[in-house]
Amino acid sequence: MRIHTATDFLPVTVSSVLLLSAFAAAAAISATAAPSAKKPYVTTSLDIDSECKTCPRSLCPNVDLKVDNVTNEFNVTCWTRGTKIMGDNLWLKTESDCYLTQYDVHEYDGNWDEDLAYCGRQSEEQHLTLEDATLQYKTECRICPFTGSCDVVAYLPEETDVTLTCWTDAATPILDNSYWYKTTNNCYVAEVGLYDRPNRADLDYCGPIPHLEIANHNNENGTSEVNKREPSAEPAELAPQYLIEVKVGEEYSYCYEKPDNTSKVIERYEYNQTVVMQCVTDITGTWYAQSTDFCYCSNYDFWDEPLNSEYYRIPLCEYFGTPADR
Ligand SMILES: *[C@@H]1O[C@H](CO)[C@@H](O)[C@H](O)[C@H]1NC(C)=O
Ligand SMILES: *[C@@H]1O[C@H](CO)[C@@H](O)[C@H](O)[C@H]1NC(C)=O
Ligand SMILES: *[C@@H]1O[C@H](CO)[C@@H](O)[C@H](O)[C@H]1NC(C)=O
Ligand SMILES: *[C@@H]1O[C@H](CO)[C@@H](O)[C@H](O)[C@H]1NC(C)=O
Ligand SMILES: *[C@@H]1O[C@H](CO)[C@@H](O)[C@H](O)[C@H]1NC(C)=O
Repeated sequence: MRIHTATDFLPVTVSSVLLLSAFAAAAAISATAAPSAKKPYVTTSLDIDSECKTCPRSLCPNVDLKVDNVTNEFNVTCWTRGTKIMGDNLWLKTESDCYLTQYDVHEYDGNWDEDLAYCGRQSEEQHLTLEDATLQYKTECRICPFTGSCDVVAYLPEETDVTLTCWTDAATPILDNSYWYKTTNNCYVAEVGLYDRPNRADLDYCGPIPHLEIANHNNENGTSEVNKREPSAEPAELAPQYLIEVKVGEEYSYCYEKPDNTSKVIERYEYNQTVVMQCVTDITGTWYAQSTDFCYCSNYDFWDEPLNSEYYRIPLCEYFGTPADR
């Protein structure tokens, strides 16, 4: 039951008449002062790397959160509802005019939604720019656009349709192209894996992107219905990377329709030719690498064997599954 005091400024839930009358008395006493149940702001700080967003939704672009350069503190002024992060949909608006999920903010000894004002219905709206795109190659969709340190959220097969929502160029270059796009699956894909270059002018800039971990930023619906397997275990210190360039170390490297050297030859690469590889597989008992011509070469035909490279850890083809019929 929700009961309002006579002056209607302190909504309280009460279970006993005694408490109610005590409250009414207190309200009567302080009625001449200008009472305020809400604080104008609360000073807080971040517990983990976070993104401060233009709206309280995972997909909204990021903006710079200004913090005190000595204490790392900042003020939050109101609360709102948004994407549920780690079981909680409460977001806080900062004085930088951006929203943080409560989950990332230092634990508060109180209730945000009691101590701060509600930001208003408008704050719950999501404004996104959207553009459709299709993957030409197998693509790792990552929680942040850096191949060395960001978890892979989904391994997407070629021909997957994605919806892009913002772009960034502050990312790891793949084949010398450093544009990446955030998809509506809440993970980033590199431009180099798309059929067509998106029209960036129609998309928001993603803003500053911190290093995030899946463990701390699972959103309410997960990120993708596509498989989310762990990358293979070795060598552990290297991140997987797709679309890697290797040079043929044999006189020729034959590229087969299947990962099997008795299947049809699709391409013949020459000595020292650069070939771009998407993934490796040993489903037929021998290691093959799939090139961007969608055929399979023996892993051992290259100077820097895709499987055993010192520089990257290429994903298994099986991670990506098979493309849907289009
Ligand atoms: C903090 O910022 C102020 C102005 O924004 C600047 O004058 C000051 O030097 C900064 N202090 C440190 C420790 O960076
Ligand atoms: C929070 O707001 C108060 C009042 O405007 C201000 O004095 C204080 O410096 C702010 N704190 C931070 C960390 O910005
Ligand atoms: C999550 O899934 C539910 C049910 O499918 C849907 O109503 C809701 O809009 C989804 N939320 C987001 C943020 O996609
Ligand atoms: C085909 O692959 C097998 C191993 O799977 C190997 O023993 C054989 O030499 C290969 N043949 C050719 C023509 O490369
Ligand atoms: C292989 O190609 C590179 C250029 O991509 C060239 O510099 C190098 O000399 C070539 N090596 C051989 C052995 O032909």
